Amino acid sequence: MFEQLKTLPQDPILSLMKTFREDPRTDKVDLGVGVYRDEAGNTPIMAAVQAAQERLLATETTKAYIGPAGTEGFNHLIGQLILGQDHPALRDDRVNVVQTPGGCGALRMAAEFLNLCQAGTTVWVSAPTWANHIPLLTGAGLDIREYPYLDKATLSVDFDAMTACLEQAAAGDVVLLHGCCHNPSGADLNADQWSAITDLVERKGLLPFIDIAYQGLGEGLDRDAQGVRLMAQRLPEVIVASSCSKNFGLYRERTGALMLISANAQQGKAATSQLLSAIRSHYSMPPAHGAAVVEMILDTPELMQQWQHELNGMCSRILELRAGLSQALTPAGDFSFIERQRGMFSFLGISPQQVQTLRDEFGIYMLDSSRINIAGLSTETLPRVAEALREVVEH
Ligand code: LMR
Repeated sequence: MFEQLKTLPQDPILSLMKTFREDPRTDKVDLGVGVYRDEAGNTPIMAAVQAAQERLLATETTKAYIGPAGTEGFNHLIGQLILGQDHPALRDDRVNVVQTPGGCGALRMAAEFLNLCQAGTTVWVSAPTWANHIPLLTGAGLDIREYPYLDKATLSVDFDAMTACLEQAAAGDVVLLHGCCHNPSGADLNADQWSAITDLVERKGLLPFIDIAYQGLGEGLDRDAQGVRLMAQRLPEVIVASSCSKNFGLYRERTGALMLISANAQQGKAATSQLLSAIRSHYSMPPAHGAAVVEMILDTPELMQQWQHELNGMCSRILELRAGLSQALTPAGDFSFIERQRGMFSFLGISPQQVQTLRDEFGIYMLDSSRINIAGLSTETLPRVAEALREVVEH
């Protein structure tokens, strides 16, 4: 049975992690995978998470099944975190949230759900988008089309090209948007552009599907969710996939959520029953631990305060590194876009050969597309990275 199988190439992000690990140089710098790092280059467990885990350990009484939707408390609190406490969609009972195995689980189950609504539904994704979006969506049977998103010359959002393309979409098509901190470009829609896209989606009868994996790491929890909140208020149906990997640092616990915003409570109930049946036939139910930690934090005022404080610190560090890198690179050209962009990622706009030189000669690792993880820098490594970059760009 297995003899005809060919070995597939590894996922580019995961294989870069492996190459980095195997590099014996002690001064190597990892700007590859999207994992937050502190000044010392570590990804520590957040103090609020550690405290919540300790409380859980002392109070948890069972490991019995939690059910396909996960736990009600987590789902309720995540809904409030994303939409804000008194969002009209919550008041009108139009929101249903299920706990998922990470953001990937949310994306895949949204895709399975969309395929149940209409087999082979077309999903428009930004060019570029996160590499794993495509396999997660096509694996469920959806059809992918791309809309232009990034102006390669300025590395900012090419909004005219984006909207002109989406004018070609047919009613019932789905548009995948990044809620904030666009991965891989860091170029986000501004408030006016969210409003204009909401108008377009409404006028053309499209369904927005928002992936918000970095809430709190762009400009803060509320500002990062402005697009989701606007669409949830103005549109009858919105799908939102979210992740606790980055903002709670729970990467390996696989904690995420899928939110269905429906036209009314009755349609929401029917839609959720379909989603839960799809979940049952895929992985039956999500893992419990990460979501229990998040629920404990969001439900305990002092832990919530501590978590927000830590998250704000992470967000500020990224903004400072952005400003520092942009300044340090100025002699080599205009890199001001790095300071304007948000979240963990930016493209440097250099060629794959230059990326390779940085890896081979300087031990600086980034994706071939020149996407860097800003949070992988530190005040110590930033000048060295900037110098190597200037050298590579100028030669
Ligand atoms: C990334 O884009 O680097 C992260 O989202 C990690 C991943 O799974 O690709």
